[in-house]
Amino acid sequence: MKLQNLVILGTGGTIAGQAGNALDNIGYTAAQVGIEQLLAAIPALHRSGPVMAEQVSQIDSKDMSFAVWTRLAERVRHFLARDDVQGIVITHGTDTLEETAYFLQAVCQPHKPVVLTCAMRPATALAPDGPQNVLDAAVVARHEGARGVVVVCAGTIHSALDVQKVHTYQLDAFGSGDAGPIGYVEEGKLRLVRNWPLAQVPYAQDAIKNVANWPQVEIIMNYAGASAALVQALVAQGVRGLVVAATGNGTLHHALQDGLLQAQAAGVRVVRSTRCVNGRVLPLSDDAIQDSQGLSPVKARVALMLELMARDARGSA
Ligand code: SIN
Repeated sequence: MKLQNLVILGTGGTIAGQAGNALDNIGYTAAQVGIEQLLAAIPALHRSGPVMAEQVSQIDSKDMSFAVWTRLAERVRHFLARDDVQGIVITHGTDTLEETAYFLQAVCQPHKPVVLTCAMRPATALAPDGPQNVLDAAVVARHEGARGVVVVCAGTIHSALDVQKVHTYQLDAFGSGDAGPIGYVEEGKLRLVRNWPLAQVPYAQDAIKNVANWPQVEIIMNYAGASAALVQALVAQGVRGLVVAATGNGTLHHALQDGLLQAQAAGVRVVRSTRCVNGRVLPLSDDAIQDSQGLSPVKARVALMLELMARDARGSA
């Protein structure tokens, strides 16, 4: 039987970073090495079948933009539709990787595996982690039972829904919170510790195809002494949605809560998430502000933008 292609899409990040000194793991410039050059340094990648590569962007993921997301989703859809493609690996910076993973799961709802991977050390490091991460990601993308968007870093497989960057420096920089990882890649083999997540995102969002302007949705945080000042400033400039990273189980300083309720009454969509790393906001029946249904603040923001886009698309249809 003819082996199917693995597609590798490069977007930049530390995995493509360069430093002036091989011992420097932090003073580098991200997104310098092209995807073809990165893969040329990993000959073992080709052992499991043919590989095709494409550079979709070359950015530090702190600068991730809606334009890059739109293009990435288009290339993912394009390659997934091909019968000769088994799965996709995307090399990405770690800083906004969890947002891209959630976004791609929401807008592509892939039935084949789409595996985001990354590195915490630049390509020029004495011991870079990128090549092993790419090899592990390829193993997952070629795994029979794999589907949907997942993240592979430091030998651990995380679902797009749960994954979160939890460390600023260590190679194992991601966690899956209460849910835990899907499994591990060990010496080229998968060891799953839970069922492969199905339909991680509860709605298929196709709206970005029709939208020229992404709705403005911002994140604000609750903290000691919080006020309504930021909410009022954002409402005055026409914000469409607000996600609040609340304290604990979704609690809000009364001044911030008043501002959010006024914004909501004025037509701004408001969603309540938590700044806690683990757990989720457990709603009460009389909550005035909807909870994020377990999504972290950054993912709740993506979901809210997509919801507003879908609403706009329906309105203009
Ligand atoms: C980035 O997110 O592009 C830079 C940081 C990293 O990849 O670790």
